[in-house]
Amino acid sequence: MSLKSKVPGLKSPPAKRAAKVSQRQVRRPLASRLQPSDSDLPFVLVNMAMTADGKIATGNRAVASFGSARDHEQLLELRATADAVMAGARTVDTAKINLGPGGAKFRRRRRQRGLVESNVRVLVSGGGSIDPAAEVFQHRFSPIIILTTQRTPATKLRQLRALADEVKICGATEINFRAALRWLRARWGIARLICEGGGELNAALFRAGLVDELHLTVCPKVFGGRTAPTIAEGIGRLQLANAASLKMTSVRRRAGEIFLVFEVIRIAV
Ligand SMILES: NC(=O)c1ccc[n+]([C@@H]2O[C@H](COP(=O)([O-])OP(=O)(O)OC[C@H]3O[C@@H](n4cnc5c(N)ncnc54)[C@H](OP(=O)(O)O)[C@@H]3O)[C@@H](O)[C@H]2O)c1
Repeated sequence: MSLKSKVPGLKSPPAKRAAKVSQRQVRRPLASRLQPSDSDLPFVLVNMAMTADGKIATGNRAVASFGSARDHEQLLELRATADAVMAGARTVDTAKINLGPGGAKFRRRRRQRGLVESNVRVLVSGGGSIDPAAEVFQHRFSPIIILTTQRTPATKLRQLRALADEVKICGATEINFRAALRWLRARWGIARLICEGGGELNAALFRAGLVDELHLTVCPKVFGGRTAPTIAEGIGRLQLANAASLKMTSVRRRAGEIFLVFEVIRIAV
């Protein structure tokens, strides 16, 4: 049974009602210590785990979960500070993930911070290739928003609209992430957004200069493999001067893993 059917006030048709209820709820202000952005964009964190050789999955994508229980706890801790969690289509349909807030402890922390119990979930699928049978769609505890483009065929668009609370077309062939994030903030009240990969989506956000903070867990494994993805894929930057520059703000070593936090340095133009 879906979780939504257990939540008082959220009856059929669930998607539409959830959108209305949660849209109002997520507009609640976030505690200032959590660094909400005061611009018209959300504060964006990228949170990833990588091997010692910088891979986020094996070359065949079969293994993408390799962090410790502590790393998973850290992921949920971070989600408990955010209005929304975002992920790309391949991350969502290659793993059994629901992008939700986790157990009662984390939901309680959210409430203490003035957040709604469950974060909004934002999925990115420029061509609409996301699998309608993906695990994320099986759990109806919070709104699901899909960002896509006009490349998505009409039939697919109809299918996604039936699955999600809102499908937003954010460009003709490429997603305009600046406009998309501005829309997420204005329409859904998302002031703090965590992107949990994969590499292609992260790269687009870095490229657009939209990432504020990178949280990285370095795990004691080596996958190797030319085709194994890294935290930022896409076409990348070809000149040092264009690389995203980071300032390390925290290093913690726990049980054989290193937890790093970097602030993205903004260059005034
Ligand atoms: N270790 C970790 O922390 C971690 C975290 C997350 C994921 N992973 C792993 O990483 C792998 C997935 O990474 P990935 O880089 O292959 O895929 P991804 O970024 O998760 O998803 C790629 C898909 O998302 C959509 N997308 C991403 N960026 C887009 C953009 N700029 N514009 C439009 N659409 C965009 C596209 O969907 P359409 O095809 O529909 O256009 C694209 O095919 C999986 O194996 C996953 O398990 C590991």
